[in-house]
Amino acid sequence: MADDELNNLIANTDIVSLVSRYVSLEKKGKNYMGLCPFHNEKTPSFVVSPEKGLATCFGCHKGGNALTFLKEVENVSTAEAIKMLYEFNGVEYKGNLSAKEDPNKKYFEIMNTAKDFYKAYLNQDVSGVEAIKYLNSRGMDSELIDTFDVGLSPNIGDTIYQVLTKSGYLELDISDMSLVDAKQGRFYDIFSNRIMFPIKDEMGKTVAFSARIFGKDSKDKSQPKYINSRETKIFKKGETLFNLNLAKAHINKKHRVILHEGQMDVIASYKAGLGEAVCTLGTALTFEHTNKLRRYTDSAIICYDGDKAGIAASLKAINTFTRAGFNVHLVLLPNGMDPDEFVLKFGKEEYEKYFESHIIDSIEYQYQVLFLNKDLSDRTVLESIKNDVFSLIMTLNSQISEERYLQRLSESLNVSLDAVSADYNLYRSNHVSPAPEFFPDDGYDPGYAEPEYVDMPMALPNAQEPKKLYANMAELRIFKHAERSKQIAMQIDREIMDDMNILCPESQSLWNSLIYDYYMTFDEFHLQSFVRSLSDKDMQHYLYIEGELQRIYVQGIEFDDADLRDCISKIKELGAQSRNKHLKEQVNETSDDTEKSRLLDQVFKNKFKTSHKKDKNVKH
Ligand code: CTP
Ligand code: MN
Repeated sequence: MADDELNNLIANTDIVSLVSRYVSLEKKGKNYMGLCPFHNEKTPSFVVSPEKGLATCFGCHKGGNALTFLKEVENVSTAEAIKMLYEFNGVEYKGNLSAKEDPNKKYFEIMNTAKDFYKAYLNQDVSGVEAIKYLNSRGMDSELIDTFDVGLSPNIGDTIYQVLTKSGYLELDISDMSLVDAKQGRFYDIFSNRIMFPIKDEMGKTVAFSARIFGKDSKDKSQPKYINSRETKIFKKGETLFNLNLAKAHINKKHRVILHEGQMDVIASYKAGLGEAVCTLGTALTFEHTNKLRRYTDSAIICYDGDKAGIAASLKAINTFTRAGFNVHLVLLPNGMDPDEFVLKFGKEEYEKYFESHIIDSIEYQYQVLFLNKDLSDRTVLESIKNDVFSLIMTLNSQISEERYLQRLSESLNVSLDAVSADYNLYRSNHVSPAPEFFPDDGYDPGYAEPEYVDMPMALPNAQEPKKLYANMAELRIFKHAERSKQIAMQIDREIMDDMNILCPESQSLWNSLIYDYYMTFDEFHLQSFVRSLSDKDMQHYLYIEGELQRIYVQGIEFDDADLRDCISKIKELGAQSRNKHLKEQVNETSDDTEKSRLLDQVFKNKFKTSHKKDKNVKH
């Protein structure tokens, strides 16, 4: 390819509209400015000069001309960036990009072929009729089905395997894409008779599928409602957002992103004119997600399901967004509805109207949430709400806001402002320092490694409970490990069986729910399904754990196998200590010498057992 041709292409690229795909820009004189896509910042230092054809950052000096910018922002090879630049300009690309330069090329092709096949199968095979009927009943017309490339996987055991191998792809690559599995030497399709929603990366390339059950299969409660692709070389759950490929233009235009819980909600919002909506894939919002979104906007609206699980997840998402430097607002839908239900029931116009007129800040959200489904005529309920509101108000650090919420509380409870203020003053004098922020950003070291016992404040607005001691956080960390897989969960359960009583009662109860309720029904951990299965008490403890562990994530500590061994041995050690303490008490109480020596023997054996086990762990 002639260099001149490429240089011309670079010079003629409309750099402002290219960069606008990634950064929300504002015109400043001759230039445009926005938040740098290459580093986290709160004030814009990324400058685009249409005159010079440059897009660079004052702060980190990344960027350059259209080609350099593309290469860096997309994190691709030069050859790949050249190809993208041609695509962007609508010029036919004649150069050849060898497979060597993009090792993932074959994977993208496989996923694209699968997507096209599923889509054609939905629209051309007779079995698609029922699926389309189902989609229509959920408010998706043919245009919407087409926009989101929705498809159907056949009910026949190895169709996609046949399709892909006949197209010349290797078995190994196909199974690397989590489309097929091998059983007894034969390959079969992982997705069968499900509605296929392609999950795409920011550039619109299919990287995974989310597959929903429909029709008579839905009655089979042993089948999960959604099956998602496993993580692959081109699909990382914690980094992928459904619909970001289509949403980015809308996010740029509207200077905000909407976060929903599920893809049906995102599609419902899209239909109602809110194209800036995205969702995670059944996982919690991560810092990778927020960092990705931060390239486009610093303003987020969380609109999760209005039910208990949705509210719990919202509180978590508020934190993650806030830490990433976002302005956070929320929309709380009535009667526990999700956006998809709302649109279906009241129509897209009503939904859009409701949405735009119910955007509230996070304090207001927490305030409203405290009153949901509460019987104010019950005195204990009323007192507990009152205290929760007080602790919320104490975090405001503003006289004006304090007064506004005291006023609101007096209205909500239908009592005088004087009475509310008097109670508040009393409450405040009993609670010296303001309730701790969810994640204090003061460099406070939670003592992940040291000291051995950490005293952690309760993390939720509902901060009345006494403080607890958690052994080196191992008690909390095992939950994260148990979420990694059923197999790991069962392993932990086996190993700490005898030591369970050193966990606090809340952890014991949550652990039992996870192992004996959840994992007995499901083979994979899925956040929404798990949280939905929990009692209020378990849920509160789960949220508490999440809050505490966020501090660890922030320190970049990994929940890997080494940490798992560390957690287990810590718990076993404490279990043995507690048993020994008990035995020693017995020794002191008994006057019988043989009994005494038997007990001491036991103590010694216990000691030996734990230190022996520990050595073994180290060697692994
Ligand atoms: N999800 C999942 N696996 C499950 C359940 C849910 O991956 N077993 C994901 C899906 O991405 C889903 C999202 O979590 O879109 C929200 O789950 P949920 O609220 O249970 O979805 P619903 O709104 O009930 O789903 P639908 O509207 O399709 O019935
Ligand atoms: Mn729904």
